[in-house]
Amino acid sequence: MKKLLTILMISLFAVATCCYAADKQKVLRVGTEGAFAPFEFIDEKGQITGFDVDLIRALAEQAGYKADVQVMGFDALIPAVKTKILDCAIAGMTITEERKKVVLFTDSYYDAGLYVLVRKDNNDIKGYQDLDGKRIACQIGTTGENKSRAVPGARVTSYNTNVEACMELVAKGVDAVINDAPVVAFYLKSDAGKNCKIVGDLLEAEQYGIAIHKDNPKLVKELNKALSVLRKNGTYNKIFNKWFN
Ligand code: ARG
Repeated sequence: MKKLLTILMISLFAVATCCYAADKQKVLRVGTEGAFAPFEFIDEKGQITGFDVDLIRALAEQAGYKADVQVMGFDALIPAVKTKILDCAIAGMTITEERKKVVLFTDSYYDAGLYVLVRKDNNDIKGYQDLDGKRIACQIGTTGENKSRAVPGARVTSYNTNVEACMELVAKGVDAVINDAPVVAFYLKSDAGKNCKIVGDLLEAEQYGIAIHKDNPKLVKELNKALSVLRKNGTYNKIFNKWFN
């Protein structure tokens, strides 16, 4: 009886230690936004999903972390990294000189750019050069917003999400939207985008990176290393093909 009790206690202890160790797995606090399909969006079950979400989970695992993904406004992400509420942010975020003044970025994980989107029945705007004096919608805090505000004489409205900017275009509240090329391409294939079209060439060559606090070059190194492993072992391609085919 005594022996049995000892065995029981040892096994209980083993289970407890094991759980403790699992709990101790380092958590990576990741921030993203929720309306930028196919990079990040909320699915039918209310869960955050998308290319960025799969990628950061795989990167975290490769680097020995468990990703805890939180959703917030795009313009809140860099402040949350800066105040260390987040360890990193992944949200189709373009690596820019301006942002590099406040945060570090990993190596680029996706090549993007910007497109001008208009309604199909618009024959007047044939590209960025025709936006002078027009009404443009964009998402707040984005490179698309900078590009919109650089148009002389345009009336620019910034929305919290890109989805709202596109809704305003369809509702004829604005004449054009400037947004990221892969997101525009995805939108055109959806039902909501069937009455819209891209005009002109790709504006700007942009690259997406993961934003990290200036104090944490160690995390940049770890995620860069993980990214190069996932590129070599086929995981990156698997995730890419899942969302872009
Ligand atoms: N690439 C653009 C930027 O960095 C837009 C990103 C918007 N991302 C999002 N999840 N809404 O400014």
